[in-house]
Amino acid sequence: MALVGPPPLLDSNPFSVMLQDLRDERFAGLPFPPGETRFSIPRTRRFANEPLQMLLENYERYGPVFTLRLFHSNVVFMLGPAANHHILVSHASNFAWRAGHFRDLIGLMGDGLLTIDGDFHRRSRMIMLPAFHRENIAASYDTIVHEATRALDALAPGDDLDLYAWTRKLAMRVAMRALFGLDPDGSRARAIDAAGLFEEALAFYASDYFLRVLRTRRSPWARMQSAARELDALIYSEIAERRASGQRGQDILSLLLDAQDEDGNTLSRLQIRDEVMTLLFAGHDTTTSTVSFMFYELARNPHVAARLIAEQDIALAGTAPTAAQLTSGELAELEMVLDETLRKYPPAWVGPRRAMHTFEFAGHTVPARAFVNYSSWASHHLPDVFAEPDQFRPERFTPDAKAALPKGAYVPFGGGSRTCIGMRFGQLEVRTIATLILQRFALSLPADFTLAIRQMPTISPKHGLPMHVHARADVPATPLSAAA
Ligand code: HEM
Repeated sequence: MALVGPPPLLDSNPFSVMLQDLRDERFAGLPFPPGETRFSIPRTRRFANEPLQMLLENYERYGPVFTLRLFHSNVVFMLGPAANHHILVSHASNFAWRAGHFRDLIGLMGDGLLTIDGDFHRRSRMIMLPAFHRENIAASYDTIVHEATRALDALAPGDDLDLYAWTRKLAMRVAMRALFGLDPDGSRARAIDAAGLFEEALAFYASDYFLRVLRTRRSPWARMQSAARELDALIYSEIAERRASGQRGQDILSLLLDAQDEDGNTLSRLQIRDEVMTLLFAGHDTTTSTVSFMFYELARNPHVAARLIAEQDIALAGTAPTAAQLTSGELAELEMVLDETLRKYPPAWVGPRRAMHTFEFAGHTVPARAFVNYSSWASHHLPDVFAEPDQFRPERFTPDAKAALPKGAYVPFGGGSRTCIGMRFGQLEVRTIATLILQRFALSLPADFTLAIRQMPTISPKHGLPMHVHARADVPATPLSAAA
């Protein structure tokens, strides 16, 4: 029997949704925690462009709980280890994802794991978890290596590339094959340019906040919906064909087609579609950003890159890494670099929620129905938790130092019952791509490059990541970049 999902949430008219938000706020009958609560377009725009700075400034001013009025509604931010633990673990059932600030994602992903709550979320997650067990993730390893090697074969010393765009294409190909079992070069994927359509659909979330409420024929929303419909046709035909033929592969879609929980519950055709779309979304942007930010920092910190290369020379001696080597923690330097990259640049930087009931935190009352967000990005930059947070220091994550961090301090993959289900997959993918790049090449930044970060809704380098390719032996002794 298929699980029964929640009723549709999104009113097709965003203005009535906003009106309902305003009513909820008015009828809350309780003051919000202190902060900036007057309507302000400049504040909303600034938040879209530099959320980290704004969150840290307000933390300084008001402490771990404060309110910012963004666009039409108050949003309560809760920062720091205790706040993260409260939202993600100790009081998680009081916070719903579905009615939170990223509810627009439902327009593309439907009711996949990311956007559902409560019992339906728990049951869906139970059905999906086996697909993400260690052995199934290891089965994707060959796909990751194959795709990364193919992408690296196209590079040569002396080339200039946009590492962000290069990785994004690679991660999309990996996601299509490993998650969806679709050959990106096959006639079906090429016929409708699945990767291009998916990028087109995602562009909605990078569009101006004020344009996102429009529903006219040429609006970002309409373009996203049209791309989603074409992708739906592809996903549904793939599901139908595999159901009819019984053909299965090692990809996650194949596993979901037959997955069931101990009560015999399965995923319906619509749920499988929603989960596939969710995994494609959650699984390629995040890994792309992580690889990009990692190589940005390695180019600026050649002593760290040198340690990684020395480790590879000893552990791998020029041979390709095995999945076991990359998942066992054997490459300790690589682990620390990955952890520090995800501290400084956690791609899924904000966790949007809605409070189900009124609650107290750190001496403040937060009314029921309030938008409440945690932020890994801001929490990872609190100097009392991570000294000199702007410095890239992998040694913060030696096994002992990591174990000594307070509960909730480090949350790049969220936590509790909503911890990223693709964490092992994402980590393996980033470690593999990084190792294979480092075994062949050294990458440097242009001297005049300054990193700007955008959110869409994951964080990524705003203008891509221009890098120059060197042969591994020619690693420049000092970084070419003087970027701050
Ligand atoms: C470096 C890579 C990744 C990072 C940093 C990351 C981060 C996160 C975070 C922070 C959350 C929780 C969001 C919240 O609390 O609101 C999350 C959830 C999720 N992620 Fe990832 N993710 C990564 C890779 C992946 C991959 C590769 C997949 C799929 C194959 C994936 C699928 C998901 C799904 C489905 C959820 C929702 C889980 C639930 O609510 O039960 N992620 N991810």
